[in-house]
Amino acid sequence: MNQDEQFEKSIRPALIDEYIGQTEVKENMKVFIEAAKIRHESLDHVLLYGPPGLGKTTMAYIIANELDVNIKTASGPSIEKPGDLAAVLSSLEPGDVLFIDEIHRMPRYIEEILYPAMEDFTLDIIIGSEGSTRNIKIDLPPFTLVGATTKAGDLTSPLRDRFGIVNKLQYYTEEELTQIVKRTSRVLDTQIDDEAARELAKRSRGTPRIANKLFRRVRDFALVENKDIIDIDVTKKALERLKIDKSGLDETDKELILAVIEKFSGGPVGIDSLATAIGEEVSTIEDMYEPYLIQEGFLKRTSRGRIATEKAYKYFEKERYTIWK
Ligand SMILES: Nc1ncnc2c1ncn2[C@@H]1O[C@H](COP(=O)(O)OP(=O)(O)OP(=O)(O)O)[C@@H](O)[C@H]1O
Ligand SMILES: [Mg+2]
Repeated sequence: MNQDEQFEKSIRPALIDEYIGQTEVKENMKVFIEAAKIRHESLDHVLLYGPPGLGKTTMAYIIANELDVNIKTASGPSIEKPGDLAAVLSSLEPGDVLFIDEIHRMPRYIEEILYPAMEDFTLDIIIGSEGSTRNIKIDLPPFTLVGATTKAGDLTSPLRDRFGIVNKLQYYTEEELTQIVKRTSRVLDTQIDDEAARELAKRSRGTPRIANKLFRRVRDFALVENKDIIDIDVTKKALERLKIDKSGLDETDKELILAVIEKFSGGPVGIDSLATAIGEEVSTIEDMYEPYLIQEGFLKRTSRGRIATEKAYKYFEKERYTIWK
């Protein structure tokens, strides 16, 4: 576990009532969890999807915690052989949560092992080697699969259809992020005033992970400047140094929008050309950058590629030259 992951773990809310925002998802999950407990049954399988840093992993742990069961974790890319999946599945105890992160990255032929496991709690595997193979069926205890993905569109429909509960996480409002920053400040025992908390919230791209990261950096500035409470001055100074602009856009966001405007005359431009132009991976743009820029109305996705909007031109004070064809 690296430092960032360690930090995230330490400030992750553990109970559903500490989970801020996502009201609809939260209220529904409370009911489903309660009902499963009353019936003494395992909770139906849950799919959580949405952009990075919005609280999917956090929610998975909360679900297990609220159900009072163990959580076993795996991630799509780490399950390389059918045996890897069979091993986690057969280690489950009744009611346990199996959390599979980045579930869209699991190979298809391994995914197929999940179907009977999710539906009938059985493990169908082929053992032996060429020439002398046989099928074996193993009963599994009832369990809850919690799958998380940033790309629901990449899930196959047979897999998606097997989740009884599907939750889409949304970007957080400024108010919710302010509460998250304040909560983090309490957990880390570092005071922040209301104005500063709100400023951090405004510049966090709707994302708790970013709010918490910024909080940590601002805390460093306050410490070095000998301030025992984080105020607006130190916050603004830190944000400026971190090159986070007034809307929370970072250098890559800016580079991306400006590339569309300046290098591709406002678009439409294909994602591959755009990625090459700014030296980023296609998947990084698609997962991390673009969703927020689209939601905020800086970019638009069309069938012919990405285009910069009127808002983007205004924001960066660029003239739009229209070529009439
Ligand atoms: N609703 C929330 N309330 C309070 N803190 C939250 C909430 N959601 C997320 N966080 C904080 O944001 C951080 C990132 O959340 P998390 O790791 O759950 O995101 P994720 O959706 O799993 O991201 P990724 O797609 O990258 O795996 C966590 O450390 C957690 O403390
Ligand atoms: Mg996660």
